[in-house]
Amino acid sequence: MAHSPMTVTVTGAGGQIGYALLFRIAAGAMLGFDQPVRLRLLEIPAGLGAAEGAALELQDCAFDLLESVEITDDPAVAFEGANVALLVGARPRGPGMERADLLAANAGIFGPQGAALNAHAADDIRVVVVGNPANTNALIASASAPDIPAERFTALTRLDHNRAVGMLAATLGAPASTIADVAIWGNHSASQFPDIAHATVGGVSAGDALTAHFGDAAAAAAWLDDDFVPRVAGRGAEIIRVRGSSSVASAANATIEHMHDWVLGRPAGSGWTSAAVVSGGQYGVPEGLVCSFPARSDGSGWEVVEGLSLDDRARQRIDASVSELVSERDAVAALGLL
Ligand code: NAD
Ligand code: LMR
Repeated sequence: MAHSPMTVTVTGAGGQIGYALLFRIAAGAMLGFDQPVRLRLLEIPAGLGAAEGAALELQDCAFDLLESVEITDDPAVAFEGANVALLVGARPRGPGMERADLLAANAGIFGPQGAALNAHAADDIRVVVVGNPANTNALIASASAPDIPAERFTALTRLDHNRAVGMLAATLGAPASTIADVAIWGNHSASQFPDIAHATVGGVSAGDALTAHFGDAAAAAAWLDDDFVPRVAGRGAEIIRVRGSSSVASAANATIEHMHDWVLGRPAGSGWTSAAVVSGGQYGVPEGLVCSFPARSDGSGWEVVEGLSLDDRARQRIDASVSELVSERDAVAALGLL
């Protein structure tokens, strides 16, 4: 039976990530190759021309699954009946900035958008925040949407997850498809903890594979602490340094994978992924913070993978990132945004 169309709202649709998202969504990569979509593109007035240009190109692709494209600068129109919202529209950081430096510039966007989602979105709305600082922006949006269950607001750490998988694959010379159960904990920031303690490579423990690769366990541990963790956590800054502006295609790809897995479920046997979701107190993370955890979805919702053992090193790193999330929450609360 044919599916009824789903309404997908993309904010910042005239920007870099927006442009990398729209064509893949319309082609079916996010919600399924048999799922018709209606696109709503939200922009500020200065960005409407770029969104209109993207809409012309969408028409020129003549996608079978694309039912309509609407462009607006009014959040009430953009979120009317939305089933999926990708909150991308926000200022990106430049060289030398931390993502938290964007708090003051971007935080004001997410309260009004949360309120508009609350008033206009469909009952099954699912939201992923991409605009930085993503975790705390998701918290702000959720706080402004009291009628939408908090677990429908998430933030993107799938990009960090994919970076960790990619780096492990490149180091070990193994296909990325053979790597499972990497985890990103904490904030989408330099404090995040990319964790391979439970990961496997071709069914073998990643720790054992790294020990074999580096010759002994101490060398493998040094690589993890001195190279892998800071390189994954600092990859966003590395991209800015090398290409002159922040990640685009990899960010759009991760956004599509996050929403795909949330709505359609993870492919069987593919293990867990990472998503920033509202903490229910798992692993001692204060309730209500939007924190990255190892997570699974069967299509009904994200579920934090519970019961994993954490050694002292992991505990300390997770606590440091969580304490940064607490500071960000306190900072936006002081601005009256929560
Ligand atoms: P960009 O500057 O190319 O595009 C942003 C767009 O958002 C612009 O077109 C702008 O007009 C629009 N915009 C600004 N305020 C808006 C509002 N209130 N409503 C609707 N649209 C609005 O930036 P980009 O490269 O597309 O990045 C967008 C955001 O994504 C940045 O904050 C960036 O830091 C973040 N990002 C996050 C991740 C992640 O993994 N979470 C990865 C990459 C980038
Ligand atoms: C990223 O991780 O690439 C994005 O969050 C952009 C940034 O500012 O690093």
